[in-house]
Amino acid sequence: MAAKLIDGKAISAKVKEEVRDEIKQGNLKIGLAVIIVGDDGASRIYVNNKKKACEFCGINSFEYALPEHTSEAELISLIDKLNNDAAVNGILVQQPLPKHINQSVVNAAISPNKDVDAFHSENVGHIVGGDFKFLPCTPAGVMRMLEAENIDVCGKECVVIGRSDIVGKPMALLLLHKHATVMICHSRTKNLAEVTARADVLVSAVGKVGLVTADMVKPGAVVIDVGMNRDEDGKLCGDVAFDEVKEVASLITPVPGGVGPMTIAMLMKNVLTAKKLEQK
Ligand code: GUN
Repeated sequence: MAAKLIDGKAISAKVKEEVRDEIKQGNLKIGLAVIIVGDDGASRIYVNNKKKACEFCGINSFEYALPEHTSEAELISLIDKLNNDAAVNGILVQQPLPKHINQSVVNAAISPNKDVDAFHSENVGHIVGGDFKFLPCTPAGVMRMLEAENIDVCGKECVVIGRSDIVGKPMALLLLHKHATVMICHSRTKNLAEVTARADVLVSAVGKVGLVTADMVKPGAVVIDVGMNRDEDGKLCGDVAFDEVKEVASLITPVPGGVGPMTIAMLMKNVLTAKKLEQK
């Protein structure tokens, strides 16, 4: 029997409506600054989608498109300005950055109270401790999807493929906070298929077309695909070989229309949180 699809579009629409309603009711004036450096095609699409979501929610969006050759000092100087701008509640610097700019320096420059990506080490520390101000957008989006489908991960075996700072690591922590038994796999993992085949919930966040095949998936598992790739025909696809895995899994996220829209919805929620922090 084919798996049921988890509809990220519908769930994210609900999150955005909640944010929009709270902003309207509180008559809140909120701003998000998005900085993009260089000309990465995928980043442009993300940034445009963020802008649209801001419009829907009633959040002012300020976009800064900087040329590829922008120096680290110039970028930090813009971040400093935005840190001190009362109209800006959240600051997001789109990744990937050009190679000459150090991501850690950028993460540390953003005021922790405006850090809607939750990349600042202070916020990462909060995530480790479980007392977060901001939730990392993509992992938080995945948790919200599981919640929407009434999946309780307590005591379940959850396997995360990928150990990035943006997704893999915080994803494992959020699952752990919900009492899952968590395993993180990566490029050096031996016998990947044996590990993933144990998973009640399998999250793939690698960025490799066709990585997760049906033989790697436990029958009835929940499969969450965070991958955002292009196949050989240029079509958007995830890490999961969708057509075969959907015959094994009980629930599966599509790409597009799965995790992607959730990331943006959770970002909107974080911008609202930033406003509330300012009001405290
Ligand atoms: N690039 C891909 N995903 C993200 C994200 O969640 N935040 C930022 N800043 N850049 C990204």
